[in-house]
Amino acid sequence: MARNILKENLAESAAVLRERLGGFQPEVGIILGSGLGPLAEQVADPVHVPFGDVPHMRTSTATSHVGRFVAGTLAGKRVLVMQGRLHGYEGNTSQEVAYPVWLMHELGIGTLVVTNAAGAINEAYQVGDFCIMTDHINFTGRNPVAGLDPDGIAFRFFSMLDAYDPRLRELANQVAAERGIRVQNGVYLGLLGPSFETPAEIRAFRGWGADTVAMSVCEEVIAARHVGMAVCGISLVSNMACGVEGASPTDEEVLAVAAEREADFCTLVSDLVERL
Ligand code: HPA
Repeated sequence: MARNILKENLAESAAVLRERLGGFQPEVGIILGSGLGPLAEQVADPVHVPFGDVPHMRTSTATSHVGRFVAGTLAGKRVLVMQGRLHGYEGNTSQEVAYPVWLMHELGIGTLVVTNAAGAINEAYQVGDFCIMTDHINFTGRNPVAGLDPDGIAFRFFSMLDAYDPRLRELANQVAAERGIRVQNGVYLGLLGPSFETPAEIRAFRGWGADTVAMSVCEEVIAARHVGMAVCGISLVSNMACGVEGASPTDEEVLAVAAEREADFCTLVSDLVERL
């Protein structure tokens, strides 16, 4: 039988991570986006494992992305948090970006919460809003499952209907309503970056039905759906997208808004995790 390199690599990575976690079995995976890493400080009894300590994992080079796993308890649930993520614009292949998601699945995690900071294409949105992803448009031009062994870790072809789990979306909306946190529900468009978009691109994306835009998430969610994980996606609207109300986004602005909205972000995600 032909070797399945991805399967072998995942088994090796999982063995190292399991040993570091010492019998701890995470049930929920959380990926924290730009400026949203502070939620990891709320994890009780944390075990920290830098990405670089896990064989076959790439490390994070993006600003504000610490680049480590934090395992422990959040809101009574056993979580494995990625404090920082891997982006395509850092030079990672699509499979390298998706790798930690498959690794979470290998560890037995069935639910994934992905978060990021995003620009608002929808003019009714406000900076500081959260947006629960209802669907995505993958405009990265890449797909992590392309090129994988068709008989590998999961089937080659799989549906992306309800990729963002309707039940989890409902729970996130309930938490937001009860906590008085302003949320939108919208379609997320992901691209490779690292240049921000042009105003013409933003106008085009609006015509396609996109509400928010950023440089992450789609490839992770495709990988999660490939192996059957349930996904909830939450963006912080850190800026209006380029050209909307004359906006010209900067990384500094994204991080400043993330810092301002940190408390509500932590409440939203940890209350959601509690109800999973
Ligand atoms: N565009 C792309 N990525 C982003 C943005 C944006 O406006 N804001 C935060 N990440």
